[in-house]
Amino acid sequence: MVSAGEDIAWEQRVERLRAAPLPRHVAIIMDGNGRWAHQRGLPRIAGHRASLEAVRDVVRFAGELGLEVLTLFAFSTENWKRPRSEVEALWDLLVDHVESELDDLVSNGVQVRVIGRVEELPPAAREAVGKAVRATAHNRRLILVLALNYGGRRELVDACARLAARVKAGELRPEDIDEDMVAGALYTAGLPDPDLLIRTSGEQRISNFLLWQTAYTEFWVTDVCWPDFRRQHLAQAIEAYQRRERRFGGLSREGQE
Ligand code: IPE
Ligand code: IPE
Ligand code: MG
Repeated sequence: MVSAGEDIAWEQRVERLRAAPLPRHVAIIMDGNGRWAHQRGLPRIAGHRASLEAVRDVVRFAGELGLEVLTLFAFSTENWKRPRSEVEALWDLLVDHVESELDDLVSNGVQVRVIGRVEELPPAAREAVGKAVRATAHNRRLILVLALNYGGRRELVDACARLAARVKAGELRPEDIDEDMVAGALYTAGLPDPDLLIRTSGEQRISNFLLWQTAYTEFWVTDVCWPDFRRQHLAQAIEAYQRRERRFGGLSREGQE
């Protein structure tokens, strides 16, 4: 139970977050499900199952707070290396979660998008996410991007192939290719780059996530394992972000004086 005093303190904290510039796009590497389970003497899949509560709370809060885009790294192109039973369980959980959350996503104005090689997903997963994307396409409150079978290098390879095909077709000259064109050939075309990247469970690496898009993203790492991550942790990450100064290769405010 949360006391009335704690409720007021939380509301004030949220108001303060909204009063300063919010990140438009937050991306999360949801890591540590296996360790969370291991610490409790449970099978890894129990960690994946518990992680869904974190997803639910964070998606809900991102919409309430007013973020424009939330990207969640759920399955990488390298995660196929795991035992088949774990991989299958992950896709089954995804299907269950997307189906059981769909009504809430629709009523909360969440637009679901997917990045990654979706065509390589098991059919049931492809159908479930396809249905969610179609059912939420008109929603405008929050864009929820699910990175499924996503790899940053694979995305860049796919972008190169797309641009090369346009050159071959005579639509484009190699010397006309610029940064905007590359960005426009990525899975994330049209989305702002992430302002803030969160990784849970203490690892300090990018693990092939959004390699192009994170060129100037602020990183925030927490030791909390993903199944324990809640809106308070997202608030903490955004508070840290709001205290930072982004320079994009320029000078600090003091440096310009
Ligand atoms: C993140 O948790 C979920 C996926 C990568 C699918 P992990 O399963 O990587 O958990 P750890 O890193 O082994 O603890
Ligand atoms: C990154 O976590 C991928 C996802 C969170 C989906 P991993 O657990 O796969 O990353 P590594 O292997 O520790 O780098
Ligand atoms: Mg991991």
